[in-house]
Amino acid sequence: SESKLQLVHRHVRAFPDFPKKGILFRDICPILKDPAALTAVTDLFEEHVRKNHPQVDLIVGLDARGFLFGPLLAQRLGVGFVLVRKIGKLPGSTVSVAYDLEYGKAEVEVQEDGVAPGQKVLLIDDLLATGGTLYAACELMKKQKADILGCMVVIELKELNGIDKLKPHQVFSLLQY
Ligand code: PRP
Ligand code: HPA
Repeated sequence: SESKLQLVHRHVRAFPDFPKKGILFRDICPILKDPAALTAVTDLFEEHVRKNHPQVDLIVGLDARGFLFGPLLAQRLGVGFVLVRKIGKLPGSTVSVAYDLEYGKAEVEVQEDGVAPGQKVLLIDDLLATGGTLYAACELMKKQKADILGCMVVIELKELNGIDKLKPHQVFSLLQY
């Protein structure tokens, strides 16, 4: 019968030239539309965490598509979920990190009381491209003195070498293109 990974793979679409010419955009929306595929994603992440990082304290999700998968996983594991948001969206005291995009700059932030020093965190997003976004989120976690156990994504775009940018942190991905 079909494996969980095959089920997930069948629910990723590719759109040529989106959002710009030359980019082949991997779209995870069909996963969310199919309860069995979304369950399979959550199962696979949960199996990875239970096997490799049973000591995890918090799942930290990235704006915006990390918010789709992170809370489901956190609830399965019985741990909390914390949001890393694009700048200007979170109330109260926050900590921020700026980073470079292909063109221009971006900034992400987390609430100051979101993560306590020494807490063991796993970061989650839908997709790893250049790694700039997850790198900035890791810098945020370092500012918070969190203990980074690793990063998790549904999809890794291998040719962009995001894995190298994130070293020494490990990246677990369900699918690689
Ligand atoms: C996409 C994707 C990741 C990031 C990956 O988000 O969901 O968060 O880019 O790229 P990188 O590895 O090169 O940093 P996007 O910036 O499109 O924002 P969104 O989640 O708000 O749509
Ligand atoms: N799909 C979704 N998000 C992305 C992609 C992609 O191919 N590349 C960079 N962010």
